[in-house]
Amino acid sequence: MLSADELRARADALGWFHRIDLGQGVVTNGLSSGPYVGPDKLPELAGKSVLDIGAWDGYYSFQAERLGARRVVALDHYVWGVDMAARQQYWAECAAAGVLPDHSKDTTEFWRPELPGRAAFDFAKEVLSSRVEPVVADFATMDLEDIGTFDVVLYLGVLYHMKEPLTVLERLRRVTTEVAVVETQAVAIAGMERHNLVQFFGGEFIGDYGNWYVPTLAGLTQWLLAAGFSRVVPQVDPPVPTPSWRARLRRRLRPAPSTGPTDHPNFAYYRAVVHAFV
Ligand SMILES: C[S@@+](CC[C@H](N)C(=O)[O-])C[C@H]1O[C@@H](n2cnc3c(N)ncnc32)[C@H](O)[C@@H]1O
Repeated sequence: MLSADELRARADALGWFHRIDLGQGVVTNGLSSGPYVGPDKLPELAGKSVLDIGAWDGYYSFQAERLGARRVVALDHYVWGVDMAARQQYWAECAAAGVLPDHSKDTTEFWRPELPGRAAFDFAKEVLSSRVEPVVADFATMDLEDIGTFDVVLYLGVLYHMKEPLTVLERLRRVTTEVAVVETQAVAIAGMERHNLVQFFGGEFIGDYGNWYVPTLAGLTQWLLAAGFSRVVPQVDPPVPTPSWRARLRRRLRPAPSTGPTDHPNFAYYRAVVHAFV
């Protein structure tokens, strides 16, 4: 077993997205501003099979295991295989040139089949003596027969990256036998609370060129119903758009755009969490 100092040194040598408690007082220094889904926003996981789509470093997979899940599969491909530093540099060049990036480079020029981005997940799995099963696959295109079905499917922080969200949500429904937990960026629009709206960013939202669509809660609900889920239960109350919300967004997203598609006094952005039942 590693000493606390060795554990900290090895953890610090890796790049992390998630803050994961590895024990002995060592928590990984993840970049994520989450977690957005605490145990109070998860369905009962004890004894369940769980699929975590877009697992990255595995925070939610390991949490599901800790909460008693019988089997947990952590599925990802994008951040595990893409050379993020090279992609970031290309994105900066695109921003400077005022053009949108060519995303096909992610799976060609920037793709590293040795999956360097999975090192942190693998390290955490080893340290936690976890039985979580990693699967490398693009959920949007993989053969769903290969993955099977799960009682609970976590779809956290992934929907806004999808170019074809309704098609992917139909696929989400196909692999879910009880409930899917969907967490995504959402927009609350004053006076439009009951309207099924989806804001299209066309490839750039809050500095990320991989973000496409941001729904209202009603829009997200209708997307999931259209995909075949029978009931959608929100776990987070949408914020009420106010000037202080805009100030908070600006502080959080610094350097935030002062104009553009997010800059409207009636809009407030937040992370929606819903349970979608089959
Ligand atoms: C913003 S991160 C969210 C990570 C984690 N689920 C969380 O909520 O903290 C988005 C994740 O989705 C993954 N992802 C994006 N598109 C995917 C796809 N088509 N299939 C599987 N994973 C995907 C990315 O690789 C990344 O790990």
